[in-house]
Amino acid sequence: MLPWIFSRKGASGFSWASTADQVTAGISAAGLTAIVTGASSGIGAETARVLAARGAHVVMAVRNLAAAETVRQAVLAETPGASVEVMELDLSSLASVRKFAADFAARGLPLNILINNAGVMATPFSLSKDGIEMQFATNHVGHFLLTHLLLETMKKTSHESNVEGRIVNVSSEGHRFAYKEGIRFAKLNDEEEYVISVQTLCFPLPFT
Ligand SMILES: NC(=O)c1ccc[n+]([C@@H]2O[C@H](COP(=O)([O-])OP(=O)(O)OC[C@H]3O[C@@H](n4cnc5c(N)ncnc54)[C@H](OP(=O)(O)O)[C@@H]3O)[C@@H](O)[C@H]2O)c1
Repeated sequence: MLPWIFSRKGASGFSWASTADQVTAGISAAGLTAIVTGASSGIGAETARVLAARGAHVVMAVRNLAAAETVRQAVLAETPGASVEVMELDLSSLASVRKFAADFAARGLPLNILINNAGVMATPFSLSKDGIEMQFATNHVGHFLLTHLLLETMKKTSHESNVEGRIVNVSSEGHRFAYKEGIRFAKLNDEEEYVISVQTLCFPLPFT
């Protein structure tokens, strides 16, 4: 934990304090295609901006199309000629994930990089359309299915281009406050359990 707090550089030469601009400086992503989920704001928008600036074709996979279009316009203003598009994806809906994967396949694009960034945290308890606790549905199940459905395209791209693919799952320091026995699958949809988990995550010290 301490190296993280003091932002000590890791083996890569970077730390949590390094920016996307810094870690990609001097690297060309020309010819690569990347999907960034949740690219309509925050870390996802910044990731899309920098990948596009380095020359990648970026697919912003988002549920808020209007917000994503604003981000896309900002990217184009900064990097004229950047290759960036918006596609609809609601990770809390398995049907939406399947539709996104089908739409992407229909485009016939290669896929080198998948950045599973979208996420919600400590939202009020609710169930997704598929009856799964919303945070688990969005952050985990939706991305799991998305990755599964895109994997063959990534493998094909890698074989044909001889360039390794990359799947990045954006996570959280909150993983340090997990239950010792692991995920309590039997209690995923238990509201009381959910509230305790959120309290533990947001106010970890009194509970650990
Ligand atoms: N920022 C931090 O300090 C921090 C710390 C730990 C972990 N993280 C993780 O880093 C990732 C990005 O966080 P952030 O800080 O950039 O948060 P953010 O600004 O809230 O961005 C989250 C993105 O996820 C999207 N999203 C949420 N639910 C979605 C759904 N059902 N389908 C599709 N997209 C959905 C949001 O879209 P809408 O615009 O439609 O809401 C938004 O674009 C998340 O996975 C988060 O858990 C961040």
